Amino acid sequence: MRETNEGKTPSMPSFYETACKPLLFCLDPEKAHHLVVGGLGIFGRMPGAAELMSAAWGVPDLPELAVELFGFRFRHPVGLAAGMDKDAKAVRGFAAIGLAFLEVGTVTPLGQPGNEKPRLFRLPSDGALINRMGFNNEGAEAMASRLGRLGPRPVPVAVNIGKNKATPNEEAERDYRKCLRVLYPYGDLFVVNVSSPNTPDLRRLQHGDDLRKLLDAVRDEIRIQAERTGGPEKPVLVKISPDNDDTQLERIARTVMESGVAGVVCTNTTIERQGLTHRHAAETGGLSGRPLAARSTEVIRKMYALTEGRLPIIGVGGIFDAAGAYEKIRAGASLLEVYTALVYKGPGVVKEICRGLAELLRRDGFARLADAVGADHRQERR
Ligand SMILES: Cc1cc2nc3c(=O)[nH]c(=O)nc-3n(C[C@H](O)[C@H](O)[C@H](O)COP(=O)(O)O)c2cc1C
Repeated sequence: MRETNEGKTPSMPSFYETACKPLLFCLDPEKAHHLVVGGLGIFGRMPGAAELMSAAWGVPDLPELAVELFGFRFRHPVGLAAGMDKDAKAVRGFAAIGLAFLEVGTVTPLGQPGNEKPRLFRLPSDGALINRMGFNNEGAEAMASRLGRLGPRPVPVAVNIGKNKATPNEEAERDYRKCLRVLYPYGDLFVVNVSSPNTPDLRRLQHGDDLRKLLDAVRDEIRIQAERTGGPEKPVLVKISPDNDDTQLERIARTVMESGVAGVVCTNTTIERQGLTHRHAAETGGLSGRPLAARSTEVIRKMYALTEGRLPIIGVGGIFDAAGAYEKIRAGASLLEVYTALVYKGPGVVKEICRGLAELLRRDGFARLADAVGADHRQERR
């Protein structure tokens, strides 16, 4: 792995870190989460407030960071990871803090309460979170009407879809189809989530014939919906776990390439627990944040190699600064997403990553971000 200190801006603590975070961290993590997402939802709808938020946190125009992919032009590569805005309540607010795209959800056909509380834990000494939320969400219909009321989306919105807890894996296909039927007009992209560790057996859908059958069904439903709504087929991606071994990754890569999906999101949270210091380390659930960064980059690197760079990858897992973002890009990611860093560093992290990325591209002589995607693989071959 390349060692670099550039992009690790030794920045002053932000207003968020000195004023907001201490207050939010006094609250139960899930309550703090709802307060922030609810607040962003309300601010995003207030006349003039989105402009104020953009003035504070928006990312300046950095044309070298623009990414053309999936039929969209992303202003820069940094978007919101799934699970932060599960019900698409704050699309305008999240766009206003500078994110170039959002992944909303995971949404299931029927609303469901998720697992028993407490189910979200902070591990500040590790820069991490552990969650076992279990797809708490209001359901596909509620998300569809919310996105319908939103009107034109300020940034591309990917809808992450899953199955209800009560649906057995054998019938999972029905749930994914139902989400697509209800939400197709309201999403720009779709992400098939088969990698959350908090829905029993969900991750088994990543393997063997199960994945092939599911992706065939999803592609078929996309075709049906495209015909029904009279537009081109919208891109669908699949989100995978960092806990797959090499053989599993090889099979996933082959299936995904054959199924014609548009890309892969690498990765979801991990059930591994190595090197953690915090007392919450033994909580059950998916671990996110700094301890996930290296493994998620490794999965990106492997998927890029296995698919010979032909399948776009969205890289997510422990991105906290520009150096971490750049590692994922050089390993093969075309777009990136953040979650845990927003909790620990606040909205300013998006601008910090983008500015640092622009510097790193310049340092390495890349005119555009696209030129750096997968650069490590080309260097290794020389
Ligand atoms: C509280 C919480 C809830 C999450 N919910 C979802 C979810 O519903 N669907 C999903 O695909 N990923 C979910 N994720 C995983 C994130 O999208 C992301 O893949 C993971 O957190 C790694 O990124 P990070 O290290 O930047 O947080 C969730 C993560 C957290 C921390």
